[in-house]
This record gives sequence, structure tokens and C-alpha cells, in this order.
Amino acid sequence: MITKTRISRVLARRVWDSRGRPTVEAEVELQGGARGRAIVPAGASKGSREALELRDGGAAFGGLDVLTAVGHVNGEIATAVLGLDAADQARLDDCLIALDGTPSKQRLGANATLAVSMAAAHAAAAAAGLPLYRYLGGDDARLLPLPQIQIFGGGAHAGRRVDIQDFMVICPGASCFAQALEWTAEVYRHAGRLMDARGALAGVADEGGWWPSFDSNEEALETLVAAIEAAGFVPGTQVAIALDIAASDFGRGGRYTLGLDQRVLDSDGLIELLLRWCERYPIVSIEDPLAEDDPEGFARFTQAVGHRLQVVGDDFLVSDAALLRRAAAAGAANTVLLKPNQRGTLSETRQCWQAAQALGYAAIVSARSGETEDTTIVDLAIGWQVGQLKVGSFARGERMAKWNAALRIEQRLGPHARFAGTGVLGRSRPGLRR
Ligand code: PGA
Ligand code: ZN
Repeated sequence: MITKTRISRVLARRVWDSRGRPTVEAEVELQGGARGRAIVPAGASKGSREALELRDGGAAFGGLDVLTAVGHVNGEIATAVLGLDAADQARLDDCLIALDGTPSKQRLGANATLAVSMAAAHAAAAAAGLPLYRYLGGDDARLLPLPQIQIFGGGAHAGRRVDIQDFMVICPGASCFAQALEWTAEVYRHAGRLMDARGALAGVADEGGWWPSFDSNEEALETLVAAIEAAGFVPGTQVAIALDIAASDFGRGGRYTLGLDQRVLDSDGLIELLLRWCERYPIVSIEDPLAEDDPEGFARFTQAVGHRLQVVGDDFLVSDAALLRRAAAAGAANTVLLKPNQRGTLSETRQCWQAAQALGYAAIVSARSGETEDTTIVDLAIGWQVGQLKVGSFARGERMAKWNAALRIEQRLGPHARFAGTGVLGRSRPGLRR
């Protein structure tokens, strides 16, 4: 019997994320000596149906400590997974799911289970002598993702200074991943310069995007187009716009309050506003245009623009295969965001991606607003050949660590690397017309 990849030791500790908050890191060691390590991220604008991130409560660190989750890994989880084969990810994750025993990982915490799930994958890859993306995807793992990169932050990531959460760019004209980053670096720099010239440069938001000092949400769009042009690119064809409206953060029960614009809109009003923006600006992707409790609005918006625009469900779908199937039946969204900590195991996240492929949905692997130096999601995007990656802006180490990790993979693949380009955007999927 091969025992090299059996788990011999599991160890967790509390480390710190990019907001200076506690989070869980786990290490998994195998009988053959291979090791893997992973750190779990944390969101700020979360979907209500995400798996539970276990926090201690109490006075320390605003109640956000994770010592209970760390204790679960070092105790119950370590005991349960000892001797399991790390190369059998599905079985390991099933064990974690069964051990927790609740629908949303309430007992052990999705932060505890995901840390072990990811660390085990790293250990199994190390035992196989392969980088994780290659271990996950074999020779097919050659597709470098189209990046969505934030230029201005907003919403819950910038003290609600503007209502819209992410003003991002996508580079349809770039010929490779490295070039997409080069172009974005120029747009990011020019956006900062434009804000500085107006005396409006106030630092960066949670994901590294410029802190938005605008008088209206639309002013951010205008400035973004100006930055694309100032950087010497043609808006739309070379560099286009992607938005994460994160509408659950300012809307409930079909009532949306745009604080900056001092307007309260119903679903149709918000849809109308977004459609107007899509007419006026080179927008190719919109995430969470309506709130998670507004599936009818989501479907109406998808019907209106889904054939020409990527409509992404994040808080709306929370990387959940079952919710995705329900959305597909209702004709809502055409793309799903994949965030492993919304589910708590790699296998459940992958199941959502598999469901997306079966339903003709595109997908984007995504980081959270609270991140670390961990770059596992880059390997997931490339190993699973998802085709799109969103990790925040073009500043701050926890963001750059991920872009740089993908750069290394592109170089290592050399002539075998393929760049996803805009063919992976939800709107251009064949047969997709909702
Ligand atoms: P979050 O934001 O990590 O704070 O949820 C990221 C996103 O909404 O895509
Ligand atoms: Zn989002």
C-alpha cells in the first residue's frame, strides 16, 4: 500500500490578514515528508448564504479572533484526517464536511475546514513533485486567466465613500497575461495622477484601488475612461470596464439606496441606471447588479443585457452549485464568481465550477477583500482552467503576490501558455442567450 501521501500531521496557527485581522493558517504534513501550507482569506461584503467564518466574539480584536477555529483544526480535524490520503481531495473534503455536520460549516468554521482542504492539496502536489496548478490540471493547465483588476475601490472596502464597490479594468486587446498587467499598471498610474491633479488623492482602499473621492458614482466611471485614454489605450477595444456593484450592500427588499447620489431606486430603477451606464461607458462585465434577495431583478437584468455583457453572481450565488442551478433555471446571471471560502472546501468550490460548465456559465476565481500572501487561488484558476481571475487592485503585497504568481507560471509555461482573452467572458459563450 502506498502511504507516501497519507496525512501524518496537521497544525494550525493564527496569522494576520491584509486588514490586520486574525485568520487561520494550516500546515499538512504527509508520511512521505511532503508538506503543504495555506491561509484562509476573509470578505467584508459577504453573501448571507456563505459558509460560516468562525470568529470568537468577545473583546479581543473586535471579536474577530479565530482561536476557536484554530483549536478545531489542531484538535478534532487533525484527529479525523490523520491517515487519510491527501491525494484523494474528494474523500478528505467529504470527511471535513461530515465531521462538521452542518449545512454551512457552522460548527467547525469554514475557515478551519478550508485551511486544511487547501493545505492538503499543496502537500499532495509537493509529494507529486509538481506545482499546484499542474497537479490540479495536468498538461491541460496552460490557460492563463483574463484578469479583472480594480482601479478604484468603493462600497464596504472604502467606508462607503462611493456606493459601487469595484471599478475594474479588463484588457480585451492584450495578447498575454503579462501584457494585461503592463497595460493595467499604466491605467492605474494615470488614474492616480488624475485624482492627484484634482487634489483628490486620499490613499488606497482595502483591495489597493485608489480611495474614491468622487461626487457621484458616475464620476468614477468618467475618471476611469479618462485614465484609460490618458494611458494611451482605446477604451472598449483595448481596455474595457468591469464593475462589481455589490448591490446587496445598499439594497434590500427591492429598495436600493445610493447614498452618494442621494437617490432611492426600486429594482427597475437600478436596472435602468445600470443599462444607461452600459450604453455610455465601455462596460463588459457587471457583478451583483441586484441584491442577493432580488432574483427576479437579476433575471430581468440578465434578459436585457446577458447576450452582450457578462453578468456575474457573487453574493447572489456564493460559489454554490445548487444556487447556480436554481439561477440558471430562472435565467439569472451568466457567470459565477468562485471564492473557496464561501463554501469551505476545495471540492465544493470545484463542484460549482463543474456545474457552471455544464450550464454554459463562465466563471471567475476571486480573492476576498481581506487577503494574505497566500496564492492558492492562482493555481486554482490555472489548474481548473477557469479563464478569469479577480484579486483586487494593482497595489499592496497581498494583491501583487497573486498577479506575480501568475506571471511566473506564464513564463514557466513559455510557448505552451495560452491567454484566455475575452473569449471566456460570459457574454461570448456559444448558445448563451438569456
Ligand atoms: P469581499 O469583496 O471579499 O469583501 O466580499 C469581494 C467581492 O465582492 O468580490
Ligand atoms: Zn463581489
